[in-house]
Amino acid sequence: MKVITLASRKGGAGKTTLVAHLAVEADRTGEGRVAIVDLDPQGNLTDWWNARAAATPIFLDAREGLDAAIKAGRAGGVDLLFIDTQPSISPVAAQAVAAADLVVVPVRASPNDLRAVAGTVEMVEEAAKPMLFVANSVTLRARITAQAAIALSAHGAGAPTMLSTRVDYATCLTDGRTARELDPKSKSAAEVSALWAHIEAILEGKGPRARTRRAA
Ligand SMILES: Nc1ncnc2c1ncn2[C@@H]1O[C@H](COP(=O)(O)OP(=O)(O)OP(=O)(O)O)[C@@H](O)[C@H]1O
Ligand SMILES: [Mg+2]
Repeated sequence: MKVITLASRKGGAGKTTLVAHLAVEADRTGEGRVAIVDLDPQGNLTDWWNARAAATPIFLDAREGLDAAIKAGRAGGVDLLFIDTQPSISPVAAQAVAAADLVVVPVRASPNDLRAVAGTVEMVEEAAKPMLFVANSVTLRARITAQAAIALSAHGAGAPTMLSTRVDYATCLTDGRTARELDPKSKSAAEVSALWAHIEAILEGKGPRARTRRAA
C-alpha cells in the first residue's frame, strides 16, 4: 500500500481539495483500491465524503488513530491511501508524514503561505521523506506566481502542473464531487489529471528523492 500525505502548516492551502481530487482521479484511472483518511478535527474531508453519492474512494475511519486506519487499509487490500491533515506541525501531522511514501505540500502564491513553507519543509526533512510542492489557486500571469515558483524551488521539487483559482474546485468540496465529476471537459479536470500523472510517476520511482535534514 502506497501512502500519500497532504501537509501544510498554513491553513487553507488546498490539502482537502487535493486529497478529494487526487483520490477520485487515482480511482478513475485504475490504481486499484483507493482510500482516504481524515486526520483533521475540522472534518472537511469527512463532510465532503458524507455528501458524496459514489462509494469510492473508500473512507477509512481514523477515530482510533492513524495506525488503526492504516491497518484497516492493509487488511482491506487498499493499494493507495491519501491522508488529509490539519494545518499545523502537530504530532498527528508528523505521524502522517512518517507514514508517507510521498508528502504533497500545497502552497498558495501569497507571502504568508510562502513564509509558512519552511516549517512544513522542516517536518518533512526530519522524517526524510520525498516531498512535492503543488502551487494551488494560482493566477498564471500574476507576478507573485513566478516569485513563488522561484522561492519554492529553493526548498524542493515542485509539480509542473499548478492548480488555478477556479470556482468549480470550491463548489465540489461542498457537494461531494470533483471538478471532473461536475464537468469532464473542464480545465480543472485536465489540471488534476496532469497533476495525478506526475505524482503517479513519482510513486513509480521517477521523481524526487527523499530530502534529509540539512546538517546544522
Ligand atoms: N484552486 C482553487 N480554486 C478555488 N478555490 C480553491 C482552490 N483550492 C482551494 N480552494 C478553496 O479554498 C478553501 C481552502 O481549501 P482547502 O479546504 O482544500 O484547504 P486546506 O489546506 O484543506 O485547509 P485547512 O488547512 O483549513 O484544512 C476551500 O474553500 C476551497 O474550496
Ligand atoms: Mg483541510
